[in-house]
Amino acid sequence: MVSSLSFLGSGLALASFVRAGFSPSSSSNVAVYWGQNSYDQSTGSLAQQNLAYYCSNTDIDVIPLAFMDGISPPITNFANAGNNCTAFADNPNLLNCTQIADDIETCQTTYGKTILLSLGGSTYTQGGWSSTTDAQNAAQTVWDMFGPQTGVAIDRPFGEAVVDGFDFDFESTVDNLPAFGAELRSLMDAATGKDYYLSAAPQCVFPDAADGSTLDAVAFDFVMVQFYNNFCEVSNFQTGSANQSDFNFDVWDTWAKSSPNPDVKVLLGIPANTGAAGAGYASGTLLQDAIAYSKQYSSFGGVMMWDMSQLYANSGFLDEVVSDLSASSPPTTTATTTLTTTTTTSSSGSNPTGSLVAQWGQCGGEGYTGPTQCESPYTCVSGGAYWSSCQ
Ligand SMILES: *[C@@H]1O[C@H](CO)[C@@H](O)[C@H](O)[C@H]1NC(C)=O
Ligand SMILES: *[C@@H]1O[C@H](CO)[C@@H](O)[C@H](O)[C@H]1NC(C)=O
Ligand SMILES: *[C@@H]1O[C@H](CO)[C@@H](O)[C@H](O)[C@H]1NC(C)=O
Repeated sequence: MVSSLSFLGSGLALASFVRAGFSPSSSSNVAVYWGQNSYDQSTGSLAQQNLAYYCSNTDIDVIPLAFMDGISPPITNFANAGNNCTAFADNPNLLNCTQIADDIETCQTTYGKTILLSLGGSTYTQGGWSSTTDAQNAAQTVWDMFGPQTGVAIDRPFGEAVVDGFDFDFESTVDNLPAFGAELRSLMDAATGKDYYLSAAPQCVFPDAADGSTLDAVAFDFVMVQFYNNFCEVSNFQTGSANQSDFNFDVWDTWAKSSPNPDVKVLLGIPANTGAAGAGYASGTLLQDAIAYSKQYSSFGGVMMWDMSQLYANSGFLDEVVSDLSASSPPTTTATTTLTTTTTTSSSGSNPTGSLVAQWGQCGGEGYTGPTQCESPYTCVSGGAYWSSCQ
């Protein structure tokens, strides 16, 4: 993603810089699911295009591939992108996808994207495994199929390409999923050569019925909570209300800080278009306010969207999300080192960056080094040791 630091003012003369791929220290990661062609056009420019087509977009950091919707036995489904694959002779449900394989490598090496394989989806119906041993063996199989080549004779849908990790999007009961997740995590942690990430896409209703026990047992790098299709969806955000009665980013932030990885990032999962992912689409001021509010939580890691085809059919929406994410955001690490004189208290009135913080934006708190003055008529109100926001 290209982050413009121009709001810092010309005096600081900081150049824009290019970042791509998931960053655990960023609060503006953008993840977009690809693979299900949810806008449902079979031909033309709004039909789902090949993966690399989207990887050239510098506003997108993470692309989970949807889906490996069966694990034991393995099944893959990439909607119309599957038409460019061939089935393996010994497993007609598993696709040999040389084009996706080439595109994964292009996305990683040319564009620096983080490419995850998403496991599950709403059509996963296998119910998990009858023992922890079976679950652990299944994790090893998934690793052998999509991780670094181990020399094991196995059908590899993406050939020599190696994904950057896995995403859990289970939406029905999966027995022994914690054991499966723990084994996959330990295989990823033991691997050398690059960072592997584990993510999940629970629904916003807390705790998540299918993924909840795994989220509490295994260290995830980020979760992309589906704030749609439920009362807690982003479209039910109430502008101007400090205590949200439906929208529950605060609950996920609390979970994050006591989870096996207390630094886990929580991405705000939203529909990328009207009607995408069912209900809950928000845009304009409502989305801007919901993002500004969510950013006050230190676990906030950016936005996830469902899905790529819907996003590309919704002209201007990606720009809007990127602009909402960059609005009054705390300076990045690069900027922070420059702004050594910035005070961390909100009452000083110092405004070294020359920018004003919008309603619900962060304006103070321990460790915070960003702008501290609120847009009129808001004032900076302390919400605890770690954050203050404009209200
Ligand atoms: C299928 O392959 C064709 C030819 O390379 C390409 O133009 C098209 O974008 C691919 N479709 C998908 C969905 O990957
Ligand atoms: C996968 O597809 C490629 C291209 O069609 C082919 O060369 C290769 O032999 C296939 N691999 C298997 C195991 O079927
Ligand atoms: C809002 O929530 C906070 C923290 O849970 C609580 O202390 C406060 O009383 C609530 N305010 C209102 C108006 O409900």
